[in-house]
Amino acid sequence: MNLAYHLFVCNNQKDEIGKDVARALKIEIKKQGLKSLLLGGTKRKTRVQTCNCLDVCKHCKKGPGAALIVYPEGTLYGDVKPKDAPEIVREHLLEGRVIKRLLLD
Ligand code: FES
Repeated sequence: MNLAYHLFVCNNQKDEIGKDVARALKIEIKKQGLKSLLLGGTKRKTRVQTCNCLDVCKHCKKGPGAALIVYPEGTLYGDVKPKDAPEIVREHLLEGRVIKRLLLD
């Protein structure tokens, strides 16, 4: 399958915020029309899935939100909350701009 983006959201927290973040991203992707894109004549999908630890626990399990990684770039975000989903979809996935306030080194 050709993917435009593939997002992995850590769901290794006790309060399940990672699942809430993943759910919010899926809703927002659908809302902003990114579920399936036509890029260079090829239909590409954007996929969000949960995963285990991304090894940045300070900004996830021990922080106020979840960590996630966006491929193909490999951009790593931390302390992401469900309310950040519209910005991630609009700024990063649609406009290609990294969100500096969530970015991890
Ligand atoms: S628990 Fe989420 S990155 Fe480690």
